[in-house]
Amino acid sequence: MKKLLWAAGLFGFAVVAIAAVLLVPNPLGAQALAEAKYQGYLPYTQDEAVTIAYSRCSTCHSADKMLRYCARCGPPFIVVTHSMKKYVELTSQKGATTRPFSDAELVAITQVWNGLVGNWEAGWGAKNIKKLLQGDAALIRLLDTPLEGRPIELALKNKSAPGAHKE
Ligand code: HEC
Repeated sequence: MKKLLWAAGLFGFAVVAIAAVLLVPNPLGAQALAEAKYQGYLPYTQDEAVTIAYSRCSTCHSADKMLRYCARCGPPFIVVTHSMKKYVELTSQKGATTRPFSDAELVAITQVWNGLVGNWEAGWGAKNIKKLLQGDAALIRLLDTPLEGRPIELALKNKSAPGAHKE
């Protein structure tokens, strides 16, 4: 009986400790949550997606690169984000320290720029875009997902970022 109580106590303590890490707003809990989202275990909210889109995409150049990007400028954002991911992988081989983009991040970030600046995927055709995505499974899945299945892009579709020339 004593042993059972002790085990129950230990279990209770473990539950409380895990809950404290995940639920109480402390730096460790926030970090654990951010990591879970980076890995794709939890979805990014719309606000979080906008925040990471600005922070992750303006480490090498300013946000103007995205805000001024346009249908005449080149392929749609889904291709741009794929290229930026490849570029980061390339530079990290040369010792740069930007953390690689995860699939979950890129899927969220692509929706943000599509929503805030513009989405001209339809004009390019899925076949051409898939070729440019070079087997990037997460982005190809996004490409095949209609707007109704893209919660972040849907939420931002009628908004525009300051400085953007929306297409
Ligand atoms: C590791 C550095 C790095 C990161 C991180 C990065 N970029 Fe870039 N980006 C570049 C470089 C280098 C170029 C090409 C040279 C230039 O135009 O400055 C570029 C160019 C661009 C262009 C212009 C392309 C064109 O054809 O005119 C866009 C748009 C762009 N980036 C968007 C993004 C987005 C969106 C993200 C986030 C997913 C991002 N970048 C993250 C380095 C980066």
